[in-house]
Amino acid sequence: MLGIIGAMDEEVAKIKEQMEDVTVMSKADMDFYKGNLGGKSVVVVRSGIGKVNAAMCTQILVDAYQVDAVINTGIAGSLNAQIDIGDIVLSTDTLEHDMDAVAFGYEVGQIPRMDTLSFEADTELRALAKKVCKEVNPEVAVFEGRVVSGDQFVSDKKKKEWLAETFDGYCTEMEGAAIAHAAYLNRIPFLIIRAISDKADDSASVDYPTFEAKAIEHSVKLLLEFCKQM
Ligand code: ADE
Repeated sequence: MLGIIGAMDEEVAKIKEQMEDVTVMSKADMDFYKGNLGGKSVVVVRSGIGKVNAAMCTQILVDAYQVDAVINTGIAGSLNAQIDIGDIVLSTDTLEHDMDAVAFGYEVGQIPRMDTLSFEADTELRALAKKVCKEVNPEVAVFEGRVVSGDQFVSDKKKKEWLAETFDGYCTEMEGAAIAHAAYLNRIPFLIIRAISDKADDSASVDYPTFEAKAIEHSVKLLLEFCKQM
């Protein structure tokens, strides 16, 4: 069983439309849609925005459905001049950029007393997503790099530069690392698939609503074919 998490209704609505044999279970203000997507057994859910919602959602997928992998799909702000609006970023790894225990000698982003700085995405899931993306979104560039997550919509050039320089982040969003963190604790593989909706700088709040729908279209197209080929 594959768990598919999007933070917002807009990010999962089109995926849910394509599902068959659907049953719905509600828990913690989240609706879990279990069914068939492209011949694959999946549970699709809107987690809500931010790290706590995302981590809770992942744990419910593990406890209630015993998912053997989790995909996080959605949109993100680009941290790299090469990565344009509409392009796709597949996570190599991910971390929580707002985790800060520097006062105790930890590197910024390091969760104290955990044995890893970042959470590594599954390489097989990533390779399949890359192949499928080139097939279904040939006009879109696919990048593989670090996704940095925090409870913050980044719309400030200075913050963007800090995230890029400190972490070598490719894109920023608000859930991926929390999903990865929960997946890591449960020892299941994960992948973050994000389409770029804005540049995470001073233009972000204007670009975001303009390009949100197009970016979602790219990630949904990719995910549907991904399930067919999985
Ligand atoms: N999701 C989409 N764009 C984002 C941004 N700039 N910051 C955080 N999350 C985002």
